[in-house]
Amino acid sequence: MKAIVWTGYGSPDVLQLQEVAKPTPKANEVLIKIHATTVTTGDCEMRNLRFPYWVRLPMRAYIGLRRPTRITIPGTYLAGEIEAVGTDVTRFQVGDQIFGTTLFGFGAHAEYTCVPEKGAIAIKPASVSYEEAAPVGLGGLEALHFLKIASVQPGESVLINGAGGSIGTYGIQIAKHFGAEVIAVDSAGKLEKLREIGADQVIDYTRQDFTQNGQRYDVIFDIIGKSPFGRSVQSLNPGGRYLIANPTGLIQRVRGSWTSRQSDKKVLFEMTNPTTQDLASLAELMAAGKLHTVIGKTYPLEEVPQAHRYVESGQKVGNVIISVGQNQN
Ligand SMILES: NC(=O)c1ccc[n+]([C@@H]2O[C@H](COP(=O)([O-])OP(=O)(O)OC[C@H]3O[C@@H](n4cnc5c(N)ncnc54)[C@H](OP(=O)(O)O)[C@@H]3O)[C@@H](O)[C@H]2O)c1
Repeated sequence: MKAIVWTGYGSPDVLQLQEVAKPTPKANEVLIKIHATTVTTGDCEMRNLRFPYWVRLPMRAYIGLRRPTRITIPGTYLAGEIEAVGTDVTRFQVGDQIFGTTLFGFGAHAEYTCVPEKGAIAIKPASVSYEEAAPVGLGGLEALHFLKIASVQPGESVLINGAGGSIGTYGIQIAKHFGAEVIAVDSAGKLEKLREIGADQVIDYTRQDFTQNGQRYDVIFDIIGKSPFGRSVQSLNPGGRYLIANPTGLIQRVRGSWTSRQSDKKVLFEMTNPTTQDLASLAELMAAGKLHTVIGKTYPLEEVPQAHRYVESGQKVGNVIISVGQNQN
C-alpha cells in the first residue's frame, strides 16, 4: 500500500510517499481502508518536535530517539471503511463506514491502517462524507470535551481564542448547540467564516486584546494557549471557567490549579480522553445537520508535505483534508 513515511524530525521534506506492507489486523483489531484523513497543526508540531523541552524527550522516547523508528507513519484522524476484522471483533463488521482517531498508534496518512475495535472509532452517518468526518476525531472531540467539562449553560457567554482552526470551528458550533453566546477570536481573514458558522461576535486579535476590552465572559476557551493567564482569569465573570486546550508551560498548570483552589473561578486543562460515546454524540450532531466541517483545502495523499507547508503558513481556516484513493459516501 501507499503511505507517507516519516523519515526524520524536521521540515516537511522528511515525509515521503513510499510503498509499504499492508497491515493485517490482530484478533481485536479492524483493518480500515482510509478514504480521508487530515493534516493538523499538531501533526506539524510533532513532525519537527516543536514542543516545550519537557515534552520533547518523552516524545522522542515514544516515537524514536534520533528519528521516528517506533512510529513511522504519521496521521492520527481518519474516516474510512472496515475492510477486514480480527477473530475477536464484535462491534464492527466488514463494510461499516467509520470515523475517529488512531490515538497514539498514528498511521492514518496511508491507504490502510489497523485500530483496536475498542479504540476511538464510531460509525459515520451515511449522509456525511468521509472528508467531512475525518477531522471530527480531533476538532470535534477536543471542543466537545472542553465545553462539556466547563458545563456550558444556555445563555452563557463563551469566548473562543483561536476560533478559526480545527478545534475552534467545531467549538463555535458546539457552544451554539449548548445555547451559548459565542465570541470568536482569530485573525481578520477568518472572521467572516466564523460568523457564518454561528459566532455572535468576532474579535480580530491583531487589533484588539480581548483581555483589555472591558468585557467579562462566563467561559474563555483558549485553544492555542496564547492568552495571558492573569488577565484572562480577570476577564471571567464570577464562577467563570478558563479552558486551556494547549497548556504549554508547567507554570501555567501550577497557577491554574492554585486559581481553581483559591477562587470561585476554575482553570481547566485536563487532556481529552477520546471516547466512543463522544464520537457517537458528534455523529448524531452531524447527521442532524447541526455540526459541519469547515474545509479550507484538500490534497491527495502524495501531497501531504505540501499540506504541512500550507498548515504552517497560518492561512488555514478550519481543516486541511487529505483525500485517499477513491472517495464515495
Ligand atoms: N489538549 C490537547 O489534547 C490537544 C489536542 C489536539 C491539539 N492540541 C493543540 O491545540 C492547538 C490548536 O489546535 P487546532 O488544530 O485547532 O489549531 P489550528 O487549526 O492551527 O487553529 C489555531 C488558530 O489560532 C489562530 N491564532 C494563532 N495565534 C493566535 C492568537 N495569538 N490569538 C488568537 N488566535 C490565534 C490561528 O490563526 P492565525 O494563524 O491566522 O493567527 C488559527 O486559526 C495546537 O497547538 C494543537 O497542538 C491540543
